[in-house]
Amino acid sequence: MNVLSVENVDKTFTLHLQGGLVLPVLRGVTFAVPPGECVVLGGESGAGKSTIMKMVYGSYAADRGRIALAHRGGELDLVTAAPREVIAARRDSMGYVSQFLRAVPRVSAQDVVAEPLVERGVEREVARDRAAELLARLSIPERLWALPPATFSGGEQQRVNIARGFAAERPLLLLDEPTASLDARNRAVVIEMIRERLAAGTGMLAIFHDHDVRDAVADRVVDVAAFTPAREAVAA
Ligand SMILES: Nc1ncnc2c1ncn2[C@@H]1O[C@H](COP(=O)(O)OP(=O)(O)OP(=O)(O)O)[C@@H](O)[C@H]1O
Ligand SMILES: [Mg+2]
Repeated sequence: MNVLSVENVDKTFTLHLQGGLVLPVLRGVTFAVPPGECVVLGGESGAGKSTIMKMVYGSYAADRGRIALAHRGGELDLVTAAPREVIAARRDSMGYVSQFLRAVPRVSAQDVVAEPLVERGVEREVARDRAAELLARLSIPERLWALPPATFSGGEQQRVNIARGFAAERPLLLLDEPTASLDARNRAVVIEMIRERLAAGTGMLAIFHDHDVRDAVADRVVDVAAFTPAREAVAA
């Protein structure tokens, strides 16, 4: 069984500030992510890659189609799931490394990374130890662990975000440009972490700007341009 199966998904945006213009962005999106494989979304800027990612994570609603996620021994259709089911799916079945860290004020970097484990019932001290291992592996200096990441550099924030996304093991991991602002050494660490998790059976859906990273980990590239409808906006 696939960890993710996307079937015939359409997405339009309605531009309320422009008299309700309807902008068709994606039509008939279909692909699957098997366990242990990394599927990369390709296509030019504006093709709809991040929009697909956000629909899978439940942040954007799809107009139609099916987005089936392996969840609690069965499948959850994220197109029709209730909000509390989406929250449960995020906790137990899919991780997401967004392009930018959404830093919570006053929470230390170590706790930001430990949080997904604590949410899943791991004892706080065990979760914090695991967080420390990840932060060390990603070369975040120990003096920063107790500080909130809001004032960290772009690359440091991105590494905290990666550590958080990798803290809990879930069947599906979504990666939106995780290595965009990393130096070569940290990029190599992230590639190694991705490979380890793939070998353990995690399925991944990823966007990589960097072709070297893509070539190092991708099993398959889905060309999102194939799902781009003619782009004239139509009046509602
Ligand atoms: N919330 C929104 N409201 C209106 N239009 C949107 C919204 N989000 C995305 N779009 C439009 O949908 C299209 C696809 O955007 P998306 O961000 O998915 O592209 P992308 O492939 O991720 O591009 P990039 O490589 O630049 O990140 C773009 O034309 C964008 O303007
Ligand atoms: Mg994008």
